[in-house]
Amino acid sequence: MKKIQIIISLNLNLLGKREPTVYGNASFEGYLSQLRAQYPQCEIAYFQSNVEGELINKIHEVGFDYDGIILNAGAYTHTSIALLDAIKAVTTPVVEVHISNVHARESFRHVSMISAACKGVVLGFGLDSYRLALESFLA
Ligand code: DQA
Repeated sequence: MKKIQIIISLNLNLLGKREPTVYGNASFEGYLSQLRAQYPQCEIAYFQSNVEGELINKIHEVGFDYDGIILNAGAYTHTSIALLDAIKAVTTPVVEVHISNVHARESFRHVSMISAACKGVVLGFGLDSYRLALESFLA
């Protein structure tokens, strides 16, 4: 059984309510239930925090043990060298995910501080971006 950790970051707890034209109407919890049902061969753990240090603690906690981390770092993607260092510090591969196509948005979203340390990046496919990232760990 593959152990996959999904980590979602700040403001993404408001999914379904937050800017629905950009991020859609569905809550992450509802989507997660579907994903777990669709991939019974995976143990999918989920963690959300609006606090940068808590995200880093979670990466440290699972990052030597799990088979994969799927990380949507939200706005910290564009600012956080601390998250970059956390990803570099662990051995579990991390896939960076974004719901929206950040390259079709404001220029400050075109830069990712964390991509260089990630196994790959999936973005722009709505919530399905998480499933596509999960598939990359099963291939
Ligand atoms: C996001 C894109 C980021 O630029 C933004 O700050 C988010 C969400 C996405 O999933 O599309 O909070 O990571």
